[in-house]
Amino acid sequence: SNKSKNLIDEINFLRKKRNAIILAHYYQEPAIQDIADFIGDSLELSRKASETNADVIVFCGVHFMAETAKILSPNKTVLLPDFDAGCTLADDCQPDDFQKFLDKHPNHFAISYVNCSAAVKAKSDLICTSSNAVDLVNKLPKELPILFAPDRNLGRWVERQSGRKLTLWPGRCLVHETFNEESLIKLKIKNPTAEVLAHPECQENLLDLADFIGSTSKLLNYSQNSKKDKFIVLTEPGIIHQMRLKDPLKTYIEVPGLDGCSCNECPYMRMNTLEKVLNCLKEMNPELHMDEQIRLMAYKPLKKMLDMSN
Ligand code: 13P
Ligand code: SF4
Repeated sequence: SNKSKNLIDEINFLRKKRNAIILAHYYQEPAIQDIADFIGDSLELSRKASETNADVIVFCGVHFMAETAKILSPNKTVLLPDFDAGCTLADDCQPDDFQKFLDKHPNHFAISYVNCSAAVKAKSDLICTSSNAVDLVNKLPKELPILFAPDRNLGRWVERQSGRKLTLWPGRCLVHETFNEESLIKLKIKNPTAEVLAHPECQENLLDLADFIGSTSKLLNYSQNSKKDKFIVLTEPGIIHQMRLKDPLKTYIEVPGLDGCSCNECPYMRMNTLEKVLNCLKEMNPELHMDEQIRLMAYKPLKKMLDMSN
């Protein structure tokens, strides 16, 4: 429409003027994905944020992702279209409670999934994402006791893939925990040739029904390279936009939330809109600021992740 064309023209003008890069996660609404300079999973987005020459990073994702960008690029201005775009995993793991958990398990090596606050990262030994979690755990000495926070589903999956026991924090993602086995089985019966692609944040009983499990990028890559032409996609449906762009001839089926509503969309990711992207570029606000001491402490385990997974 004309309105969105004007919006995009204005965004493009300001993006240039401010020397800004727009980074978007795969769970962003399609209109935002379409104007982004770079789209990726959490790991790729953090790499990109650490490598860019831009002066300004507009992070179209959620709060912890913008924090991660700031931790890696402290001299850049990091803007978020909506400051309130949070994440249940990060919210469920408050730094004080996490500290108690650490105290209860002395001598444990603490791995935190990147979906947590900078304050929790600062208390961790190593950060991981869903795309490198298994590899990182496999690289650690066998006898080292490991504590894993905050996603228990990802943690359980890593336990199964690595054959190691982890001490798990009980966090969960509201989007992935909402998928239910019965609706998935119904879809499988209706589409017997379809492959089931799942994000490891899903519960174990759903992962047991999956043909392939991985981060958003890995799911995208799998759907492109598979010989099958139909997929049941067990994650936030934003990723389906890229799957369709990469291979429009294949069929991608989303799994409804509990009551058939669109609660398979992440309400936080979807708080961002083109209007808000334009607005933050105009006002240079909301901007993410971070205490330098926390940043330095959070940088260590994050840098270690990047070094261990290149
Ligand atoms: P990815 O790292 O797979 O992109 O996941 C991010 C996320 O928030 C999943 O819910
Ligand atoms: Fe957090 Fe889940 Fe939303 Fe990802 S999809 S940002 S894990 S609430």
